[in-house]
Amino acid sequence: MIVISRMLLTASAKLSFILIAALTASMAAYASDIESGKELYHEVEINQTINGVNYENANCDTCHSSDVFIRENRLATNFKKLEAFVERCNTNLDVGWFPEDVTAVATYLNSEYYNFAK
Ligand code: HEC
Repeated sequence: MIVISRMLLTASAKLSFILIAALTASMAAYASDIESGKELYHEVEINQTINGVNYENANCDTCHSSDVFIRENRLATNFKKLEAFVERCNTNLDVGWFPEDVTAVATYLNSEYYNFAK
């Protein structure tokens, strides 16, 4: 009996170690998403003609300031939609962000303005 409970204890200790490790890893991934998303968002230089003006270094604030992320009737109403809007602007403007970049930018905007559950 003692042997069995000791084995169980060891197994559950191992399991909680694995769970804690997985949790820490996902939290670290989330934090690095915010950091890289922040960098991508603030450092992007968009080469586009917008409303007849040729820009070489337009950025995400050229058309809409961050006010659109906090206005009452904002379009993104959950994280998936937020990600979809980032992707839409990414594609329309030919920014060239990869899907993981889009997720990182959405994660950054979410942490800064939207606060949706992920
Ligand atoms: C050419 C102009 C333009 C630029 C530059 C632009 N966007 Fe947009 N964006 C729009 C328009 C138009 C909408 C829709 C807004 C509306 O209908 O009120 C929008 C909406 C959004 C939304 C949804 C806002 C909401 O209501 O919740 C997000 C998020 C967003 N853009 C992210 C970005 C990011 C990130 C960048 C930089 C890569 C970017 N946008 C650059 C035109 C632009």
